[in-house]
Amino acid sequence: MPETRKILVTSALPYANGPIHLGHLVEYIQTDIWARFQRLRGHECIYVCADDAHGTPIMLRAQQDGITPEQLIEKIGQEHREDFADFHIAFDNYYSTHSEENRELSETIYRRLRDGGHITTRTITQAYDPEKEMFLPDRFIKGTCPKCGAEDQYGDNCEVCGSTYDPTELINPRSVVSGATPVEKDSEQYFFKLGDFQDWLLKWLDSGHTQSEIANKQKEWFEQGLQDWDISRNAPYWGFEIPDAPGKYFYVWLDAPIGYMASFKNLCEKTGRDFDEFWAADSKAELVHFIGKDIARFHTLFWPAVLYGAGFRTPTAVWCHGFLTVDGQKMSKSRGTFIMARTYLEYLNPEYLRYYFAAKLGDGIDDIDLNLEDFSARVNSDLVGKVVNIASRCAGFINKRFDGNLSEQISEPKLYEEFVAASDSIANKYEAREYSHAMREIMGLADRANQYIDEHKPWVLIKQAGEEKTVHDVCSTGLNLFRVLITYLKPVLPKLAADAEAFLNADELNWNSICTPLVAHKINPFKPLMTRVEQDKIDAMTEASKDNLAAVENDKTISGPLADDPISEEINFDDFAKIDLRIAKIIKAEHVEGADKLLQLTLDIGGENRNVFAGIKSAYHPEDLEGKLTVMVANLAPRKMRFGLSEGMVLAAGPGGKDLFILNPDEGAQPGMRVK
Ligand code: 2FM
Ligand code: ZN
Repeated sequence: MPETRKILVTSALPYANGPIHLGHLVEYIQTDIWARFQRLRGHECIYVCADDAHGTPIMLRAQQDGITPEQLIEKIGQEHREDFADFHIAFDNYYSTHSEENRELSETIYRRLRDGGHITTRTITQAYDPEKEMFLPDRFIKGTCPKCGAEDQYGDNCEVCGSTYDPTELINPRSVVSGATPVEKDSEQYFFKLGDFQDWLLKWLDSGHTQSEIANKQKEWFEQGLQDWDISRNAPYWGFEIPDAPGKYFYVWLDAPIGYMASFKNLCEKTGRDFDEFWAADSKAELVHFIGKDIARFHTLFWPAVLYGAGFRTPTAVWCHGFLTVDGQKMSKSRGTFIMARTYLEYLNPEYLRYYFAAKLGDGIDDIDLNLEDFSARVNSDLVGKVVNIASRCAGFINKRFDGNLSEQISEPKLYEEFVAASDSIANKYEAREYSHAMREIMGLADRANQYIDEHKPWVLIKQAGEEKTVHDVCSTGLNLFRVLITYLKPVLPKLAADAEAFLNADELNWNSICTPLVAHKINPFKPLMTRVEQDKIDAMTEASKDNLAAVENDKTISGPLADDPISEEINFDDFAKIDLRIAKIIKAEHVEGADKLLQLTLDIGGENRNVFAGIKSAYHPEDLEGKLTVMVANLAPRKMRFGLSEGMVLAAGPGGKDLFILNPDEGAQPGMRVK
């Protein structure tokens, strides 16, 4: 009998300023499956999480909404809890980083680091909003990219050309908060001397605590020596004030991971559990963090060093996963693939997604794709067509012909043994986070069970005299095979497993219960355990996820009815007069690869040709447009789009779809003429 492990497992703490979406859920589902698997094996596995409730974006969002940050994080925290619960994410505790436990732990850690000589102060120059009177994080400054000239780019990197730079390099910088031009201002900041832990961290990275790709990536930071990490922010800031530094606050990324400890501490207070057993430097318990690859640096450099420097235990493992794409692309509001957890739940069964992610997840950091066609095909074929089907094929005979009683013994012990013998191999796959391999092995067994039933054809035998006992044996064996499969799937499909337990009328399944099959046992009537994924539900979910405004943003051509697209802010006549409308001749119209709505037009405006992307593909074939005249905004600043530079805008009107009309000016119009 293996020893009982004590494991504390966490997922990254979601920010308390926005809803949970399917991208987040990859991680919570991955972690929850692992935690449930450990518990099913009889280990003590505690899963804690919390909302990440501090920082500038949360402070500003609350101001925008006209509420206090406390009210905002309370409201969002509640929504997060409900979303997670409905996806069957079984936290032992879900807390908030804005808690007394977290304040105390953050202060303790800071004091220990300071007393150990690992904190230093230095004056630095940062961007400051003179109107709002606050220092500005890079993401709160926008301006023109110094490398490619694209407008409206963030202070740290350009989304058009991909270059990274310092906010001071932006051309025409402005504060996103007030619109003011930022100035530079000096202030004293507190730094954690990460370099003090250089040798220790190198060893830690080389000891299998994280995937090797991640460890190697972090090692690049050692090349110029590890830099001090700024752990302080100036008031006004939403967070914890630094004990010996009035007006200075802990940077949100200092107290966020301490939130793992604080959530656990809160659980200890509620249950009488021993905090030190899990967090003392010599703890024998395991500490396992699941995170996205984008926050690996915080979890595999800063966090272990902070814990080590403050005399706490360090993580056993930091497991990273990749991002979620939908239908092969980044989630997009205009395509309706930016799907919120709540929207999904309104249309589809959460266990479909748990299974689909499990069928896709491995131990690596590659992105995983939710292909909506593949999603229904997989769920329908594997769960409904294979697994649940075994029970529905057998249960009717047992209930109707044998009064719900299973036969006295397993008539096919070798087959049953084969199923039980897969237990170690499947367990190893779960343990190693190779869920896709585990699912494949389980579905292989499900195929075997269906084959077995097909070979014996109880529906034929039942009509033959003297074959009653065979039908009883085959269906009883079938249901026992089903029970083994459900046990293997229980970490992924907890609700289906609970319903199956109720149907089988037996104790809760755990990894060992499969050693004893159900014989001479009365089951309950069978109710359908899972229905097929319906395409119209997927379509409705996608439709409900479409942000029409975002779609308009992307195209700039289509406008909806007044009700959901109110008239824009009033402009004066001078503003209007600035718009230079010209007659343009469409000399070339082409499809744009990868664009659903756009056509690429070459327009002659009288001696000058313009390249314009117009969102009119739903209404016009390119060949119908060539040679026609239209009206364009000729003095619109060129805009860099994903497909190229758009030098102006074609005017079109209509409700959209097929009814979208390019205005055909009267005969006699000449390219380049001004429209009055
Ligand atoms: O990246 C994020 O969404 C952060 N809120 C994750 C924090 S994880 C931990 F350190 F708290
Ligand atoms: Zn650029």
